Amino acid sequence: MTTSITPSRIIVGCMGLGGGWNDDPHGPEHVDEAEALIDTALELGFTVFDHADIYGRGKSERVFGDVLARRPDLRERMVIQTKCGIRIGEDDLPNYYNLSAEAIVSRAEASRERLQVETIDTLLLHRPDALMDPAEVAAAFTHLEASGTVRAFGVSNMSAAQIAYLKTRVKQPLVANQLQLSLGHRDFIEQGVRLNTAGNSEPTYPHGTWEYCVTEGIAVQAWSPLDRGKFVNGHVGLDEGDAAAASLIATMAAERGVTPEAIQLGWLMRHPAAIQPVTGTKTPERLRAVAGAEQVAASMSYVEWYRLWIAARGEALP
Ligand SMILES: NC(=O)c1ccc[n+]([C@@H]2O[C@H](COP(=O)([O-])OP(=O)(O)OC[C@H]3O[C@@H](n4cnc5c(N)ncnc54)[C@H](OP(=O)(O)O)[C@@H]3O)[C@@H](O)[C@H]2O)c1
Repeated sequence: MTTSITPSRIIVGCMGLGGGWNDDPHGPEHVDEAEALIDTALELGFTVFDHADIYGRGKSERVFGDVLARRPDLRERMVIQTKCGIRIGEDDLPNYYNLSAEAIVSRAEASRERLQVETIDTLLLHRPDALMDPAEVAAAFTHLEASGTVRAFGVSNMSAAQIAYLKTRVKQPLVANQLQLSLGHRDFIEQGVRLNTAGNSEPTYPHGTWEYCVTEGIAVQAWSPLDRGKFVNGHVGLDEGDAAAASLIATMAAERGVTPEAIQLGWLMRHPAAIQPVTGTKTPERLRAVAGAEQVAASMSYVEWYRLWIAARGEALP
């Protein structure tokens, strides 16, 4: 990466690339698919690409690396982020987590090789590990930085307390926290308004997480920002509340002459946490559909923002 590159606010998630979560090898058609998505992203000004070692069991990174080997000039136009820490179907276990120093280093090095890059721009710890030891994480980050394997570090799915715990030993700045945030997954704002209300339900999102990130200069990234298509009109299986939200999204999109996807992402980006949505599509058409989101965010009124939230939550605010 050249230092002159401007990271885009919309991040291109690459989880869908590579042909799926199976052990079948990827084919040239999957490399072509990745290349088409990358070309469209760069054309739209989306310069940041999000990976993880586990996506497609390594194939998402692998096809991306094949594109870079085919077109080395692309590398200096992009920021590459990947993650480590989740183990899927290894050691006779379903899912488990490993953020030991050895695991972080070996998984990051393997990602770097699959991606066929000299340096990974950003490495995120994918999920908190119950055995996580800040000293081990610090040792891994120091090693990866010194060896030139990774330029910057961050976390994902972590609370303020977990990040503060890591920061007791980690010396590098933690630049991002990637969380599930969307109209369909609203705990990050529900917690704030339910504070001190009767019948408050158990949080899945510790209060103060995004506020802590903003205070500490940690970018807030949103995964699954489109709720995997749930709110786009015509999508099947919606309950009454979700159908009402989908209908409002469609109406607002028609009024503004933009796509429903741009409304959904615009709603997220209007939030003061300066949220960076991580899209998940592997189709250039759907990537184009989110391109107007920043403009939507810039012009979304208080009332429009609250109207969308209240429609999605299906009941009045306290
Ligand atoms: N940190 C984490 O723990 C974590 C977890 C999950 C994901 N992520 C990251 O976040 C990115 C986005 O996550 P996501 O894939 O769940 O995000 P998403 O953008 O909410 O959903 C994308 C998926 O939904 C489908 N989709 C979107 N709109 C649709 C519509 N209108 N109709 C039908 N299908 C639609 C897409 O299919 P098409 O490909 O056909 O468009 C794609 O499979 C991932 O790529 C990954 O980089 C991170």
